[in-house]
Amino acid sequence: MHVILTGGAGYIGTHTAVVLAERGHEITVIDDFSNSSPVALQRTAEIIGREVRVIEADLADREAARAAFSGLDADAVIHFAGLKAVGESVAEPTRYYRVNIDSTINVLDQMRERGINRLVFSSSATVYGNPEKLPIDESHRVGVGVTNPYGWTKAMIEQIIRDAQKIHPELAAVLLRYFNPVGAHPSGLIGEDPSGIPNNLMPFVAQVAVGKREQLSVFGDSYPTVDGTGVRDYIHVMDLAAGHVAALENSKPGVAAYNLGSGTGSSVLEVVAAFEAASGRKIDYRIVPARAGDVAEMVADPHKANTELGWRTELTLADACRDSWNWQSANPNGYAEQGE
Ligand code: NAD
Ligand code: WQD
Repeated sequence: MHVILTGGAGYIGTHTAVVLAERGHEITVIDDFSNSSPVALQRTAEIIGREVRVIEADLADREAARAAFSGLDADAVIHFAGLKAVGESVAEPTRYYRVNIDSTINVLDQMRERGINRLVFSSSATVYGNPEKLPIDESHRVGVGVTNPYGWTKAMIEQIIRDAQKIHPELAAVLLRYFNPVGAHPSGLIGEDPSGIPNNLMPFVAQVAVGKREQLSVFGDSYPTVDGTGVRDYIHVMDLAAGHVAALENSKPGVAAYNLGSGTGSSVLEVVAAFEAASGRKIDYRIVPARAGDVAEMVADPHKANTELGWRTELTLADACRDSWNWQSANPNGYAEQGE
């Protein structure tokens, strides 16, 4: 298949590009590089052994989206493009709604105009809000108790895709609800490169390990969990990438939602211990008050993806820490040559 990867220069897009290329698919990336570097695609090309076709465009701009899609004879789109920082979405809600929702609408319109009938969308476990039961399966209510505009864009986009599919019945749309993506390609050439202070746990821990940050703040230690710290379902980005290929290859007309997670929860302190073991470095931390909007525990029931997509996670938290450390230690400043 010829697959367009919107936002394909980003963290998950580059890793998915590698797995798609290994499976023999042709890829085209559309990205505006608002949160990524062209170096990431050079490194991706190095891994897959050929150039990656890239079109620079802001997909939230209707005309730019039309120009980007024109002339592309594609079979499928994996729609990664969007803004993803939870705290920033609270500070700049209209920008988040505009970029995430407009870019999706433009992608859907282009797909319909051009007869592209397969779509995989990067949704998030955040659409479940505060879980009613654990582990969370796909029948869990969506869009209730979502705590931030970023999460709302994902819940709204899921609905927009469902409505758009009704008038584009050949469309095979898959909503992938990622749990917590971590890790890096085992080569250490590509990985997660957050700009500024990392919001997410694993890149923060990696930066403490490499000496870029002094100390991790652990957000709360009185949750009703194994050790009082927050529990999440961490999924290695290579497993996540393989999940996209499985979703694409098994998609059928209609809309289907799948959790991509391991089914296993790990606490913040368990992640710290796993990273210390993988890196041989001490991770200094202190307990601080809980972060607003955080839930105690999020763990996927990945059974639906296991059975319907024939996909399951193969890599562990220890593998993710090893690969994250490999990437971070070889690239202490990410894709930048120096500084942040
Ligand atoms: P990322 O920021 O590394 O990648 C997103 C890419 O989209 C970037 O390369 C950015 O430049 C591009 N982009 C942003 N706005 C664009 C626009 N208007 N036009 C064209 N390109 C644009 O993020 P990621 O971690 O790779 O996440 C990919 C997707 O997965 C996002 O939609 C994100 O919300 C979703 N997701 C991520 C996580 C996570 O923890 N990383 C979890 C759940 C869901
Ligand atoms: C994990 C755990 C924190 C940082 C977010 C989004 C979600 C999805 C993934 C995009 C929690 C704790 C964190 C730190 C800490 N993204 N923590 N100190 O919050 O589960 O999910 O990223 O879709 O939508 O909400 O991930 O990595 O931020 O936090 O103690 O410096 O680590 O409290 O328990 P989260 P995270």
